[in-house]
Amino acid sequence: MHKILILLAASATLLSANAFAVDRGELLASSCMSCHGPGGKSKGAIPSLAGLEKGYIVKSLQDFKSGARPASVMQRHAKGYTDEEFALMADYLSKLK
Ligand code: HEC
Repeated sequence: MHKILILLAASATLLSANAFAVDRGELLASSCMSCHGPGGKSKGAIPSLAGLEKGYIVKSLQDFKSGARPASVMQRHAKGYTDEEFALMADYLSKLK
């Protein structure tokens, strides 16, 4: 009986951790939409993010952060995030249509 309870508790933790990861990507990416357009679709000169390849988004953000890719504002913006957060945001943004 005890073992079953432990298993149940463990799987509940796993499930909520997954749900949290999805929400976190969306939450983090929401701060990008003011410039990159609602839903990641920009109407102006700033590039759209919706549907870009995940690996491309992560690499761009890492290069902005390190300064390897020149930028006007993205360098400052990318500095506040970790690689894990880049991956969460990129995952969410790449799935937007
Ligand atoms: C203040 C406005 C602003 C905000 C906020 C902003 N960006 Fe940007 N982003 C830009 C601009 C402008 C560029 C073009 C490069 C540059 O000049 O910095 C860009 C470029 C990019 C690119 C490269 C796109 C491509 O097609 O190569 C990515 C990826 C990106 N931003 C992701 C993000 C993410 C993720 C966030 C949120 C954490 C974010 N941006 C927040 C203005 C912004």
